[in-house]
Amino acid sequence: MRPEYEPHRDRRERILAELATRGGGVLVLPTAPEVVRNRDTHYPYRHDSHFYYLTGFTEPEAALVLLAGRGRKRARRILFCRRRDPEREIWDGYRFGPAAARDRFGFDAAWPIDELDRRLPALIEDQPALYTLLGRDPAWDARVMRWLERVRDRARSGVRAPERLVEARASIDALRLVKDADEIGRMRQAAAISAAAHRRAMRATRPGLYEYAIEAELIHEFRRQGADAPAYPPIVAGGGNACILHYVDNRARLEAGQLLLVDAGAEYMSYAGDITRTWPVSGRFSGPQREVYEIVLAAQAAALDAVRPGEPWNAFHDAAVRVLTRGMVDLGLLAGEVDGLIESGAYKRFYMHRTGHWLGLDVHDAGEYKQDGAWRRLEPGMTLTVEPGLYIRAGEGVPEALAGIGVRIEDDVLVTPVGHEVLSAAAPKTVTAIEEEMRAGMEGSPAHA
Ligand code: GLY
Ligand code: MN
Ligand code: MN
Repeated sequence: MRPEYEPHRDRRERILAELATRGGGVLVLPTAPEVVRNRDTHYPYRHDSHFYYLTGFTEPEAALVLLAGRGRKRARRILFCRRRDPEREIWDGYRFGPAAARDRFGFDAAWPIDELDRRLPALIEDQPALYTLLGRDPAWDARVMRWLERVRDRARSGVRAPERLVEARASIDALRLVKDADEIGRMRQAAAISAAAHRRAMRATRPGLYEYAIEAELIHEFRRQGADAPAYPPIVAGGGNACILHYVDNRARLEAGQLLLVDAGAEYMSYAGDITRTWPVSGRFSGPQREVYEIVLAAQAAALDAVRPGEPWNAFHDAAVRVLTRGMVDLGLLAGEVDGLIESGAYKRFYMHRTGHWLGLDVHDAGEYKQDGAWRRLEPGMTLTVEPGLYIRAGEGVPEALAGIGVRIEDDVLVTPVGHEVLSAAAPKTVTAIEEEMRAGMEGSPAHA
């Protein structure tokens, strides 16, 4: 078996190779800070995604330094992290400390994080460029400036400060956009756990429960299967709440006859799942609910058809918009020609978001959607969501039978050399499959059958 750090090491080498082709330089990347929630309690800690991508290291208070090789100088990979601290470790648990972290994560050197300010000026001197993430944390930006100042102060001893300060995001984002085998394995598992949680939630749904009870089922399944946490706050939206796109209150009572929209995904080994399913609270779709549902399902099928290598990023969105807009006309929500309704943007009254986003370490993952002004073309190894929806708020011209219906269907998709693979396919999606899943839940013991 390959040692745990290998994929991260490969990515560091790719970044180092890119720095070398750009004339060399040094990359300095901190992980995320810990954030106080209240008094002496912190928010659950989550490492920075860029930092983790290149290190695999999950402790707070750490930084990565990569020095590109030049001439006879060899490239160097350095980690700064917390020292061992037996007293603190009694309270907070194990920390690697520099020596063990260096060996375990494959660095040339590792030093205590409290030496970062002392050591950094020497590491960046005589380097042509300093790459870091700028404009994200003013305290970090100020620190970078101080290191540069310190090097400039030593100009009389013949050292030079980097001439170029470069935003490193684009280089790392470009790598993150195409997933390697290790990442795809984790994403497969994140999607599988997320799908299992949706099945569990479907089986547990009953009129009279509150939205938070369904949220509890989702989180139970995430953690039972070893997921780190939800990848984002779950949306559990009964009835008209489904038309509030970022509804996370999750406190309303579920009533017979409503639909329930659930948008929830697990984070597994730092990678996000992101699935939406919509199902009837009492286990059977009504006629109008089914009509709307089938339109969204057809829109998703049309969109998925456009997910394959070489297709531009907007193709699957355009495919979904076309089917949804035709559906809006069929439902009597809009009147006119489909082309005209698309061109004027009239469809946005009922479909106001894009049909997907990159997915990976972040739920809305790193990577540009355009390249040189044109939509990016899909490539094998890219991962994205495909998530059309219809949100019919009560209002002028909306038939009463449709008012308050909100449907979204969202899957996690890997672009393959020949087309795509739906990673979240285990979550029931057709009307029949959903009703069957719910029937199994109603017949068995509540939930978790
Ligand atoms: N759950 C966030 C999204 O679907 O984009
Ligand atoms: Mn999404
Ligand atoms: Mn989602």
